[in-house]
Amino acid sequence: MSLINLLEFPMLGDDRGSLVALESGRAVPFDIKRVYYIFGTMEGVSRGFHAHKELQQVAVCVSGQCRMLLDNGTEKAELWLDAPTKGVAIEPMVWHEMHDFSSDCVLLVVASEHYDESDYIRNYEDFIEQVSS
Ligand code: TYD
Repeated sequence: MSLINLLEFPMLGDDRGSLVALESGRAVPFDIKRVYYIFGTMEGVSRGFHAHKELQQVAVCVSGQCRMLLDNGTEKAELWLDAPTKGVAIEPMVWHEMHDFSSDCVLLVVASEHYDESDYIRNYEDFIEQVSS
């Protein structure tokens, strides 16, 4: 599978404005157990810097933009999340970093599991070791 798996969400707009629906098994390729969002990120702050062992996630900037770096241990790729209809899958064992948050950025993430710190790999050397073993 390619490192960047972009998801284009259908826009259910009408003359009143726009609407996007994220449904398990449809726009999102797993059962959603958790939703969180990152906003009010201070200028110059980057976030992420971890991989997950099992967790599947999809991220979308519902407002503003940020730059996401994905790294599977052999290949790195970057993309801008800059539209409420543009999602990206964050697969297990993919190191990810988010940079250049706009001040109006609201980064929404849907996840396949509840929060579990033991699923995180927060050290890059540990990630490289585990991904190549
Ligand atoms: P973290 O995943 O480190 O944020 P990021 O990768 O975006 O920089 O999470 C920051 C803090 O929030 C950390 O103490 C764990 C906590 N947290 C939860 O309690 N529940 C959650 O669903 C998430 C994503 C984080």
